[in-house]
Amino acid sequence: MKKLGLLSFCLFVIAALSVGCGAKKDDTVKVGVAGPMTGSIAKMGADFQNGAAVAVEEWNAKGGVLGKKIEMVIGDDASDPKQAVAVANKLVNGGVAGVVGHFNSSCSIPASDVYDRAGIPMITPASTNPQLTDRGLKGVFRVCGRDDQQGRVGAEFVKGKLNLKKVAVIHDKTTYGQGLADEFKKNLPAAIEIVYYGGVTIGDKDFKAVLTSVKEKKPEIIYFGGVYPEAGLMVKQAREIGLNAPFMSGDGTIDPKFIEIAGEKAAEGTYLSFSPDPKNIPAAQTFIEKYKTKFGELGPYSIYAYDAMNALLSAVKDAGTADGKAVTAKLHSLEFSGALGKYRFAEKGDIAGSPYVIWITKNGKFEEHWKP
Ligand code: ALA
Repeated sequence: MKKLGLLSFCLFVIAALSVGCGAKKDDTVKVGVAGPMTGSIAKMGADFQNGAAVAVEEWNAKGGVLGKKIEMVIGDDASDPKQAVAVANKLVNGGVAGVVGHFNSSCSIPASDVYDRAGIPMITPASTNPQLTDRGLKGVFRVCGRDDQQGRVGAEFVKGKLNLKKVAVIHDKTTYGQGLADEFKKNLPAAIEIVYYGGVTIGDKDFKAVLTSVKEKKPEIIYFGGVYPEAGLMVKQAREIGLNAPFMSGDGTIDPKFIEIAGEKAAEGTYLSFSPDPKNIPAAQTFIEKYKTKFGELGPYSIYAYDAMNALLSAVKDAGTADGKAVTAKLHSLEFSGALGKYRFAEKGDIAGSPYVIWITKNGKFEEHWKP
């Protein structure tokens, strides 16, 4: 009897503790922000975190959501697919209502399987590889465009505007980089000769051997599918060996760090596909001002992280619950006015239409250059 009494007492303590933990857990609505917070493109992670933080701060200033404060939980995938899966599991186990992230398509794709199994939505501000939303997972959304759109616009520019005949295509062998390079290549007409096609390895610092082979083929433009650390070094080294053909790349390269690494002179005249300049979008101005005051210059994807977080929190609010499945269902019918304009996610989780234009690097800055 005594033993039973002790057992019931222990069970009571355990139950009380779990209620205690539960109550604490329910004090806030948790939302995940995942991306490369460390590693060679840690600036992209910081841009995500800062953009999303502006949204969370605005919501919290108005009382949060579902009557609770919003708590941002940060996940660092360090651009590594395996770490992205670990981060996704951690966020799921931490009870987030949804995730804003990841940055790299090579991280978003494996992480999306984890979120899908847990029934938790993810909205990526930046992952553009078509496979992310083409696999039919219910809870995967993006507020950016897709590389089949981006590659096509790049090819249209090279054939229609520049009217070139000889193109070199280099990629970084990643889901995003190679995928984008292949979409670009696929959309070039047969009359344009691909004089070089090959991959380099992320993290490499010396591209002179590849660039020397490219130079021998006398391309009129070099297209690179990859991100700015490699893009910057490649342009710098191309100019050093006298390979002066213009350089072209995509959304992974359009960051001031690209110009910093390449040097202003080498980067001059580089073409980049990306979405239109938020400076010219009236609805974006309040966010831009707030962000600048708090964090300085916007990164390319800061505003996308802001819109993604606002979309997620609007869906939580409309669903009336932080339950992932209910939030996912709301996201599918959500009509949402973000800083970049109106969003309505298509069945697959993509935004409507192609957002891409071509930018150019001039005097150490990026400016919009051509619209398809
Ligand atoms: N758009 C890049 C990617 O999908 C950032 O990896």
